[in-house]
Amino acid sequence: MKKKLRLSLSKIPSIIIAIDTNKEIIFYNNAAKQKFLFIDEGRDLNNIIRSTELNTFIDKAFREKEDFKFEFTPSNFSDMYFIADLIFVEKDYEELLISLNDQSLLKNYEQMRTDFVANVSHELRTPLSSILGYVETIKNSLNEDKTNDKTVGKFLDTMEDQAWRMTRLVEDLLLLSKYETEDKPIEFQEANIRQLIEGVVDNLQNKLMAKKIEVQIKDDFDKSTISANKDALIQVFLNLTDNAIKYSRENSTIEIELESVIDDNTTFCQISFIDKGEGISKEHLTRLTERFYRVDKNRSRNQGGTGLGLSIVKHITNRHNGKLSIKSKVDKGSTFTISLPVFQQTVINT
Ligand SMILES: Nc1ncnc2c1ncn2[C@@H]1O[C@H](COP(=O)(O)OP(=O)(O)OP(=O)(O)O)[C@@H](O)[C@H]1O
Ligand SMILES: [Mg+2]
Repeated sequence: MKKKLRLSLSKIPSIIIAIDTNKEIIFYNNAAKQKFLFIDEGRDLNNIIRSTELNTFIDKAFREKEDFKFEFTPSNFSDMYFIADLIFVEKDYEELLISLNDQSLLKNYEQMRTDFVANVSHELRTPLSSILGYVETIKNSLNEDKTNDKTVGKFLDTMEDQAWRMTRLVEDLLLLSKYETEDKPIEFQEANIRQLIEGVVDNLQNKLMAKKIEVQIKDDFDKSTISANKDALIQVFLNLTDNAIKYSRENSTIEIELESVIDDNTTFCQISFIDKGEGISKEHLTRLTERFYRVDKNRSRNQGGTGLGLSIVKHITNRHNGKLSIKSKVDKGSTFTISLPVFQQTVINT
């Protein structure tokens, strides 16, 4: 490596390590020395930073002669979290620069935020169910008393509605925090997608009948099961079908399509929820999966929505290494498609 480059790199605050094709360290800067005390020229990088992910990307970079960016936590420093850039400086692709940006503090704050929301939600569960219990008891005793004032009953109905709404919000927040933190692994089982979808549609029969909506399932998926977390997928299907019903007109049809798709040598099960409802205009599309984002806040609130549904869908899809895509045309309808890998790769950190 050129002397001038070494000199400038030695002073910059990001961690910089350069390696050769044998992953032997040929250069490191001051920031690297401060973080990894035993770093030295001539040492194997694997002895300093242990990470399957880092190794895989380094191999890929040398093989494909390309730069890469990714995030990882070393297995020998489990409290650290880095954003890594792999960069070739010279055209001979013999030396690779590894730049590590320490994001541990940010990650900690993010963790504190999600823990806080999860704890608060959990603590709200018990008082809420107690309020609902008492409201119900009072309502029952009022019903038995024929001389009662009707307005009290109305107030109690409103209290009950609001307490239920808060309960739904708390349950959704708990679901979201369960799936957004990647630290706790989720369990994959053999899941029959068609069966899960039929179960969800059965569950929503009342809503479907109320709006006279028919659901057609078109199954072109050529395998019977995929490896997935059933409880999590039920949440995804419930949310997408519920939205399709909520935003469809009366007497319309909702199609649910299952297909096999091969992309980059991986087989996916692709599931589309197609409605002919009101649709969503372009400017909202990219923001739909944000927490609490709603196109029409008042309307959605009146329908009892929390605005967390699609956020939960996105996180669960991510945890399955899947993809979510949304297509929509105002007044024509919307299609929400999720693609889930048929087999899950288990990553073992060494
Ligand atoms: N099929 C759809 N057609 C039209 N708009 C939709 C559809 N699905 C979602 N949306 C829009 O996206 C917003 C976010 O959806 P999301 O499911 O996250 O929240 P919600 O349905 O309002 O409440 P909940 O969290 O209870 O599901 C909705 O408020 C609605 O504006
Ligand atoms: Mg919803």
